Amino acid sequence: MSITKICCIGAGYVGGPTMAVIAQKCPHIQVTVVDLNEERIAAWNDENVDNIPIYEPGLSDIVAEARGRNLFFSTNVEKAIDEAQIIFISVNTPTKTYGKGKGMAADLKYIELCARQIARIAKDNKIVVEKSTLPVRTAEAIKSILDNTGNGVQFQILSNPEFLAEGTAVTDLLNPDRILIGGDTSVEGQKAIQSLVDVYANWVPADKILTTNVWSSELSKLTANAFLAQRISSVNAMSELCEKTGADVNEVARAIGMDSRIGPKFLKASVGFGGSCFQKDILNLVYIAKSYGLNEVADYWEQVIIMNDHQKRRFSNKMVQTLYNTVADKKIAFLGWAFKKDTNDTRESAAIYIADDLINEQAQIAVYDPKVSSKKVLADLDYLETRTSEKNSANVTSFSSPYEACASAHAIAVLTEWDEFIAYDWQKIYDGMQKPAFVFDGRNILNRVALESIGFIYQGIGS
Ligand code: NAD
Ligand code: UGA
Repeated sequence: MSITKICCIGAGYVGGPTMAVIAQKCPHIQVTVVDLNEERIAAWNDENVDNIPIYEPGLSDIVAEARGRNLFFSTNVEKAIDEAQIIFISVNTPTKTYGKGKGMAADLKYIELCARQIARIAKDNKIVVEKSTLPVRTAEAIKSILDNTGNGVQFQILSNPEFLAEGTAVTDLLNPDRILIGGDTSVEGQKAIQSLVDVYANWVPADKILTTNVWSSELSKLTANAFLAQRISSVNAMSELCEKTGADVNEVARAIGMDSRIGPKFLKASVGFGGSCFQKDILNLVYIAKSYGLNEVADYWEQVIIMNDHQKRRFSNKMVQTLYNTVADKKIAFLGWAFKKDTNDTRESAAIYIADDLINEQAQIAVYDPKVSSKKVLADLDYLETRTSEKNSANVTSFSSPYEACASAHAIAVLTEWDEFIAYDWQKIYDGMQKPAFVFDGRNILNRVALESIGFIYQGIGS
């Protein structure tokens, strides 16, 4: 089937950038991204492309090129479903906060709502694509809903997980390591796979498009995230041992990364990984393993999360300890609040947890992040429900200048690896601070020797 109309349900960090790139690379296909969130859709349609709701390097240029030509953002979900031949489901799949599997399983209520809506509206055959990250065998549930509540039309369910990382979404989408498409082994299933392969083939080389059965594809996505996060927890575990032994984790990472079997990427010790997916996907994997009675498998992967929580707690404890066992009423400057550089996303950012710990110790937190608003910082803390939002507001202030954030602070915590931090006038920052002036570099990005020669007391991760 030649595809001319695609719809994507969910205009978030995945749906927005992914569909923008499909639209750019396939001008012959009309791509409509729909969402229930009116504010988000309005922002995607903002005349000024710099105001689109997601900050990703290069994204606004692509939106500017394709929007209104063959890329559309709308709240009219029904119309978009009705017209499309392929419907991507790219809604959120957060960790459940209630009921069975609370705190572990993926909450599939948004997925089920999409399936029921597609079933109700579809009047001709459709290909439904799981773009969201889902537990293995979700396609079975989606198919059952579609077949049992639909209008007698045929549905093919494909799994096409997304591997982009935030901050590099556009380059990841333009030059993916691979595109994974899982589908039914039947003739109809294979035809559906081919239709989606043909879409990606507009810009992705054939040898990078991998097709599998649907369960392998679903499970590969959780596995990829588990392996990536596991590397970070492994190097972070070593960072603690380095601090005790005089080894330097950066040197250890370089040494092991040169072994081609290990490779150099994803070996950066840090204050802990954040982001909306690593923790949620590993918890989900642990839950799935447990539900099959595979307790050793579950325990193995759960340790990745345990180590990450330990790393965050260890960082805040070390700050308090170093600052003479009290941070009460001390100003602590946070450089960075986003969970990584080049994104405005703060979901599960380590900064949130470090701030929470330090507010418990009655510190005053001064935040500077080039892309995160003060409203977002406070909303992230309020979401934890550790204390009232009045108390959070009383202890946390955001600044639009890093120099103001650091003025008269006792210590600086570097929590995001934004490039601009490296280029600051660190002498000027030092001059404005309380003495002794401390830097806790949770990303190991600053030049230790240069800072120490200015007079800072510097502590990185794992050295
Ligand atoms: P997001 O929260 O940014 O976006 C999801 C959007 O779906 C929201 O705007 C929400 O309003 C909308 N939505 C929910 N239910 C809807 C419905 N019934 N109809 C219409 N719209 C609806 O989430 P995200 O970060 O884009 O993640 C989406 C999925 O992709 C998740 O499963 C995630 O695990 C996966 N994923 C995310 C990333 C990433 O980098 N963020 C990367 C790969 C995979
Ligand atoms: C991650 C994966 O890299 C993507 O392939 C995947 O598609 C995505 O999750 C998803 O499923 O959502 P993302 O979370 O956007 O992408 O960003 P990463 O670059 O993986 O960083 C995650 C966290 O790990 C960040 O807090 C980052 O600072 C941290 N990190 C990363 C380290 O601490 N050390 C490293 O060496 C690498």
